[in-house]
Amino acid sequence: MQNQCDTSTVDMAQVAAIAARYKNEPDQLMRILLEIQSVCGNAIPREAATVISSVTGIPEVEIYGFITFYAMLSDKPRGQYIIRMCKSAPCHIVGAREVAQAICDCLGIAPGETTADGLFTLEFCECIGLCDTAPAIMINDAVYTNLTPQSAVSLIRAYQQGGVC
Ligand code: FES
Repeated sequence: MQNQCDTSTVDMAQVAAIAARYKNEPDQLMRILLEIQSVCGNAIPREAATVISSVTGIPEVEIYGFITFYAMLSDKPRGQYIIRMCKSAPCHIVGAREVAQAICDCLGIAPGETTADGLFTLEFCECIGLCDTAPAIMINDAVYTNLTPQSAVSLIRAYQQGGVC
């Protein structure tokens, strides 16, 4: 089981500065949270939600509602690279299950887990809009399509060796 994000390395002044840029735009909560998450190591610590609330006036419960509802947000520590793979049936019948298994075997983790080196987190999610080119995955914002178990492992190896930005 993962713990809350380690806040010892998170600069709350930086969090407050990001929130302050949107002080009068409560409808920009998702943008605020994504920016803060990117500077907090792919996770939003509880203290950050408190800071966002005090700066913007958005209730803390609403902020937590966003963090827990949207799959792209998390309050748990995640890897530098977040691998997202659709778990829906249309993708699995064209080979996504085998690709997912190859990634799990390659990284030595199960879906929802992060590698011990902190490099990768593997997440299953609903449709990512790539059904016509499945099996497909996203690694952070990059999209990779028409994967096979072999090409998926090659891709992961390239990330491990720093060959992909
Ligand atoms: S159903 Fe899997 S990407 Fe759309």
